Amino acid sequence: MEGPATPDGMTPLRIAHVRDVAEGIRSFELVHPDGAQLPVFTPGSHIKIRVPNGAIRKYSLCNDPAERGRYVIAVKRDERGQGGSISLVDDARVGDTLLASVPENAFPFVETAPSYIFIAGGIGITPIMSMIASMGELPAAPWKLYYFTRSPETTAFLEELNAPELRGRVHVHHDHGDPAASFDLWPVLERSSGAHVYCCGPQGLMDAVRDMSGHWPHSNIHFESFADGSRPRPDDTPFVVQLAKSGRSLEVPVGKSILDVLRESGCDVASSCESGTCGSCRTGLLAGEADHRDMVLMPEEMESQIMVCVSRARSAELVLDL
Ligand code: FES
Repeated sequence: MEGPATPDGMTPLRIAHVRDVAEGIRSFELVHPDGAQLPVFTPGSHIKIRVPNGAIRKYSLCNDPAERGRYVIAVKRDERGQGGSISLVDDARVGDTLLASVPENAFPFVETAPSYIFIAGGIGITPIMSMIASMGELPAAPWKLYYFTRSPETTAFLEELNAPELRGRVHVHHDHGDPAASFDLWPVLERSSGAHVYCCGPQGLMDAVRDMSGHWPHSNIHFESFADGSRPRPDDTPFVVQLAKSGRSLEVPVGKSILDVLRESGCDVASSCESGTCGSCRTGLLAGEADHRDMVLMPEEMESQIMVCVSRARSAELVLDL
């Protein structure tokens, strides 16, 4: 971004507009304080923001990537989260500045696909909004959106998605909190059609899509998680990773990922999404039993590879090809 960067590479953006786009979901329009153009982003990108309570959180950009003057994010006030979204929704006002990173993309959009199937659950609609917005600038390709929420009141961007020009492309389904009323995606995914599938939403939705798309080419199915996949689970335990090439041995405590521990020890491993969906941190697994928590590895890869941003160990020790 133009202007003086802070030491951690983030620059201030001004909140130009705030809008409640559904019950408990607020969108923020961020602009350069001087009105300058912002760095280009691609569909599916996110930015990191330092929220008012000091935490740094990632938010998908949901406006048209062709717009150079603003970034739009939508934030769900998550009572069960770690406080970052509550801080942003409750404490950020029009005119305030927030530190933001340049856009990154861990959910890249293949612009040459013959057709697209978008599947969103809840606030997982945000990266998909930027993909849909970008469709106008690309060669025409058929697409459909399947968007699952609890009720009309909790459905972000319902007005935009009900626009007459999107009729026939957008299917919004509300389950009203009843799992028995959830939408059956099997007819959508039964036939592997050459389409590219983009899915973002709760883990249960992504697991269902992964299970139903096992017969599709792996490269046609794309996931992004809005949850922090490295958040501790109650049954997490510490374990040791042995680095085969350097001979080092590192303890991975509860509350830290293997990636965190590798970074702290100066071991450079590529990463992007840090939620187990992009595939950047794929690492060779030479011994030990992994507790795979990613959306990337195929069953036949699980014995020899691991995504170190989210996965842990079932055995006391893992040996990594590092
Ligand atoms: S950083 Fe994306 S899968 Fe690990």
